[in-house]
Amino acid sequence: MNHTVVILAAGLGTRMRSKRAKVLHRAGGLALVEHVVASARALAPYGRIVVVTGHQAELVEALLQPLGFGFVRQQGQRGTGHALASCRDAVPHDGLLTVLYGDTPLLTAATLERLRDAQTDSGAAATLITTTLDDPTGYGRILLNDAGGVTAIVEEKAATAEQRKIKLINSGIYCFQSELLWKHIGEIEPNSVSGELYLTDMAEILARHGHVVRPMHVDDATELLGINTRVELAHADRILRDRKNEELMLSGVTIERPETVTIDMHVQAGTDTIIEPFVRLLGATHIGEDCRIGAGAILENAILSDGVTVAPYTLISDSRVDAAAQVGPFARLRMDAHVGRDARVGNFVELKKTHLGAGAKSQHLAYLGDSEIGERTNIGAGTITCNYDGEKKHRTTIGAGAFVGSNSTLVAPIEIGEGSYIAAGSVITDVVPADALALGRARQTVKPGWAKKRSKKSWA
Ligand code: UD1
Ligand code: CA
Repeated sequence: MNHTVVILAAGLGTRMRSKRAKVLHRAGGLALVEHVVASARALAPYGRIVVVTGHQAELVEALLQPLGFGFVRQQGQRGTGHALASCRDAVPHDGLLTVLYGDTPLLTAATLERLRDAQTDSGAAATLITTTLDDPTGYGRILLNDAGGVTAIVEEKAATAEQRKIKLINSGIYCFQSELLWKHIGEIEPNSVSGELYLTDMAEILARHGHVVRPMHVDDATELLGINTRVELAHADRILRDRKNEELMLSGVTIERPETVTIDMHVQAGTDTIIEPFVRLLGATHIGEDCRIGAGAILENAILSDGVTVAPYTLISDSRVDAAAQVGPFARLRMDAHVGRDARVGNFVELKKTHLGAGAKSQHLAYLGDSEIGERTNIGAGTITCNYDGEKKHRTTIGAGAFVGSNSTLVAPIEIGEGSYIAAGSVITDVVPADALALGRARQTVKPGWAKKRSKKSWA
C-alpha cells in the first residue's frame, strides 16, 4: 500500500519571536524539522516524504536537500489545512497519508509505526495521536462521541470555557486514508477567529460524512511536545540530551554528572570512554574506545581514535586525533588539524591545518599553522610559525626527529630538515638542512661591572 508522509514546516512560528523559521531552531544539536524527518524516514522511504516549506523555504530546503526529499512550497501561510492542501498534486491519492508537524522533535519512529498499524487494523477514515495533559493550554482539544470516535477538534482560541477543561489534546500527528482526505479537504472553511484553514477541522468533516476518526492515545506526553516558544525549545533540548546520554551510557560510556554535559544526536563514543563534567560534544564528533574527555572540553566534528586523552578545557573543531595521543589542557585544534599517534599537545598550544606526526610533542605555548611536522619532533615552548604575511598563508615543513628550541620564530614558507636543531630564541628565515644546527639570534654581549658602575654614578 502507498504510504506517504507529509511534514508541515512552512510556518514562521510567531511565538518564537524570531526572524528565523521555527523549524530551523535547534534542539539536541539538530533543527526541529531534522528530528521529525528522522522519525518519518523510519516509516516511509525517501521518495514518499514530502516537506511543505514556506517561511525561509530556501533555508529549510537547503538543510534537507541532501537527504533527497520532495518539497512543496505553500504560497502564503494560511494555516495547517492550507499547508496540507497545497500537496494535492504532489502525493498519491490512494493508500495512507501521515501528516506530521515540523515542530514536534521528540516523536519516535516506534510511535509512528504504532499509528500506522492502528490505522491499518481499524480501517477508520483517519487515526490521530492524542495524549492527556494536566495543562493542555495551547493545544487543540479532542471531542469524542459515546463510541469513542473523534467528532471534532476545537482549537484553544475557539474553545468554550467548558471545552478548555478537556485534557485530551491533539498532537498534530494524523494518519489518513488518502482517498477520503483528498475528497473532503476542500470543505475546510476559514476559521471564524483567525481566518486560517485548520487541518484539525478534517476530524469534524469526516465525522459529519459518517466516517470514523479514531484517537490513538500515547501515554508518554513528552513525545508529543510541540515547540511554540523558546521555553519549550529548551525543554525539548533537555529531553533530547537526556535521551542521548542514556543511549551512550547504556552502550558502555561513562558520563560523570550527565546533567552538565551537552552531546549532540549524531555523536558516537566507544566503550569505556569517560566523559567528565561540563563537556560539549557537538556535530559529527566520533570518539573511540578508552578515551578520556576532560572537564569543560568542547569538541565539534572531532574524530578521536582509541585511547586518546583530551585534558580539561581543550577546544577541538573539524580535526583529528590518532590513537593514544594526549591533547590539552587548554589546547586548541582547528581547521583540519591532525595529531598523530602517541603525540602530545600541551597547554596553550594552537594547531591550525597542521599535521603533528606520530610521537611528536608540542607541550607549551605554541602556534603551529599550515605546518607538516615530522614524527618524534619536539617543538619547544613559545614556538611560532609565522604563516601569514598579511596577504597569503605559507607552509612550514619540519622533518622527523627535529628539535625546535624554545621561543623559535619560523618565518614561512620554510623547510627545516630531519634531525636538525634550532637554537632557542632563533628567528628562522632560510632553509635548515637535515642534521644541521641553526642559530638565528643576536650573540650575547656581557659587560663586566657595568651595573655597579652605573649605580655609583647615580648616587654621586
Ligand atoms: C497545532 C494544532 C493543534 C495541536 C498542536 C499540536 C492546528 C490548527 N492546530 O496547533 O490542534 O494541538 O498543533 O502541537 O493544526 N504550518 C505550516 N503552514 C501554515 C501553518 C503552520 O506549514 O500555514 C506548520 C508549522 O510550520 C508547524 C505546524 O504546521 O510546524 C503546526 O503549526 P502551529 O502554528 O505550531 O500549530 P499549533 O498552533 O501549535
Ligand atoms: Ca505547534
